[in-house]
Amino acid sequence: MSIEFSSKFAKNLSLPKHQQSVSATITALASAAEQISQLCARGPLESAFGALAGTANSDGDQQKALDVRTDEIITAALKTVPVAYYASEEQDDIITLDESQPLAVASDPLDGSSNIDTNVSIGTIFAVFPKAETAEASFLRVGTDQLCAGFFVYGPQTSLVITTGDGTELYVLDRTDNVFKLAIAEMHIPEDAHEFAINASNTRHWDASIRAYIEECQHGEAGPLGAKQNMRWIGSLVADANRILMRGGIFLYPEDDRNGYEHGRLRLLYEAAPVAFIIEQAGGSATDGHTRILEKSLKTLHQRIPFIFGSKNQVKRVMYHKR
Ligand code: F6P
Repeated sequence: MSIEFSSKFAKNLSLPKHQQSVSATITALASAAEQISQLCARGPLESAFGALAGTANSDGDQQKALDVRTDEIITAALKTVPVAYYASEEQDDIITLDESQPLAVASDPLDGSSNIDTNVSIGTIFAVFPKAETAEASFLRVGTDQLCAGFFVYGPQTSLVITTGDGTELYVLDRTDNVFKLAIAEMHIPEDAHEFAINASNTRHWDASIRAYIEECQHGEAGPLGAKQNMRWIGSLVADANRILMRGGIFLYPEDDRNGYEHGRLRLLYEAAPVAFIIEQAGGSATDGHTRILEKSLKTLHQRIPFIFGSKNQVKRVMYHKR
């Protein structure tokens, strides 16, 4: 397995000090992703594929056997490259790999795991930071400190969306020679689009601003938005984000009044910060409803955050209701 990095990535000026370490890390993650995609493709042929592992992660979510297995695959891959610390959504604490190395990597090894046994796209999200003084300080920081962020999607295609702060690229795994090849050099999210994604089963728990915006969407051409707004909700962040990168739209996982959802559902470090970096670099916006996600400072490893991202003008409209 290898990656044919674009010439822009290969001489990446946004990574002056860490170019080689980051490239090696991405290559190792791509190799791990290729293994994970094989497991996903075998689905129920793989023993205990979607079965519960009998354990819970630090957020209390039930882990599936594949969550645990993918975390092991990512950990093994990161041990072979210049990474000092690994923070995983599946682990309570940071894992020290080799303190002398320059990078720190955070990952949600298997995003969308409630879709595992349904043959729907799932993925792996990652964020790469320069190592700081301590393991904690390497992750408890703002999203603008990321050197690189990306996600793999295990779907009809196995793909990698990635940014190092100089645009967002899409690579697709070519199964004929097992190489990730550049498919889109410059992803671009249109400023205006007519699609929204939210889990509408939570309507009664939302605050007035989210209800107001979703009502506008539902009123379509008869409402203030003046056009039909289509709805999509895959339930895998990577798949919803990938669609928005391809044709625009908005994703909302707001805070709500259910117990444990006061700050939304998604994790700032493993999900929102890397996806926000990718989205902004493709011309979109990413916010918690008030503040840019990349400027939010992480206080605890598994902190949750309301997450609203996508086409600039759609996100702006939600923020208008949030004022
Ligand atoms: O955190 C994981 C996740 O599965 C995301 O991939 C997805 O966007 C979200 O949770 C779905 O949440 P819900 O099941 O509440 O709609």
